[in-house]
Amino acid sequence: MTRGRRVVSIVGATGLVGSEIARVLLARRFPLSDLRLFASGRNPERSVEIGGRRLPVRPFRVDEVAGSDVCFLAAGGEFSRRRARAIAARGVTVIDNSSAFRMYDDVPLVVPEVNPEAISFHRGIIANPNCSTIQMVVVLAPLHRRWRLRKVVVSTYQAVTGAGLEAAGELASQSEAFLAGRETPARAFPHPIAFNLIPHIGPFDETGFTFEETKLMNETRKIMRSEAIEVVATAVRVPVFRGHSEAVHAEFDLTVDPLAAREILKASPGVEVVDDPEKARYPLPRKASGRDVTYVGRLRLDPTCNRALCMWIVSDNLRKGAALNAVQIAERLG
Ligand SMILES: NC(=O)c1ccc[n+]([C@@H]2O[C@H](COP(=O)([O-])OP(=O)(O)OC[C@H]3O[C@@H](n4cnc5c(N)ncnc54)[C@H](OP(=O)(O)O)[C@@H]3O)[C@@H](O)[C@H]2O)c1
Repeated sequence: MTRGRRVVSIVGATGLVGSEIARVLLARRFPLSDLRLFASGRNPERSVEIGGRRLPVRPFRVDEVAGSDVCFLAAGGEFSRRRARAIAARGVTVIDNSSAFRMYDDVPLVVPEVNPEAISFHRGIIANPNCSTIQMVVVLAPLHRRWRLRKVVVSTYQAVTGAGLEAAGELASQSEAFLAGRETPARAFPHPIAFNLIPHIGPFDETGFTFEETKLMNETRKIMRSEAIEVVATAVRVPVFRGHSEAVHAEFDLTVDPLAAREILKASPGVEVVDDPEKARYPLPRKASGRDVTYVGRLRLDPTCNRALCMWIVSDNLRKGAALNAVQIAERLG
């Protein structure tokens, strides 16, 4: 590291998350002495355009990542499982975007607004949480500090970019084909996603929940450091390009007040309250796209329980849900 400047590598730099990480690093003026971009090498001529510049992307080789201070992994869970430990063993701090290590005891799972102190316990790998988890805990953590969260019931409405570059292309091509009266086969999802909703993200387990749902349930407890919080999730893929939305019902130990909740959230870092239903103002994925903050609105008391709040949370899955959160972790590394 030269005078606080870091050598940073990104593996998966041609993908949605990896290229967004590069964009966020440059936009936030992360102190870089070198930025090294890697991908699979299936197409050795690849490059990415970041901030108006074309940057070369090389095939991944562990030796070329070895001299880095920080390495962001955004090449999928299988890649991380095979390579993350080897990269960390070379003295590189790995920030992993996949789900491979998130629930390991020796791997901190970090949302800087919620549990930044966990970063200092890392032993080479830090996990970036699931996109749906990040936006939910950014909003729920400040309310938990005031009223102690007991139970969350959440339904997600997840954009296609959450499933990668090819999936995003599939929504575009299927929409065009559908409007032209043709059906095209589903590849990225179990069913056509254009003009559809699919309550199936990741494989089902023996209890009937999907992996996306169990990630949201388990990761929330780990980040909030409370095994007592019950979380029940239904995850749905929707034909939106960018920006995940969530309908959240949060039950607390103490009596809550929606006006006080609004004031708490207005003062919370990374959160913006958009809540004027009379004027049709509430969070929307198209407005959240390309933005850093997590939006919350439709805040209201559960009429059946004065300890529970209903709300609508929206954030850009590629920004706070992935790249921005990962870069914020890197910014806090010593
Ligand atoms: N999309 C989201 O909203 C989101 C949010 C949170 C976390 N994540 C996680 O972030 C990771 C990346 O997701 P994504 O949406 O960016 O996927 P993506 O758009 O499909 O990109 C995948 C990237 O991984 C690279 N890659 C694949 N196999 C590789 C290998 N063997 N060696 C080196 N590079 C390899 C690809 O390179 P080529 O171009 O050479 O194939 C590409 O750059 C996944 O683990 C995902 O679960 C995604």
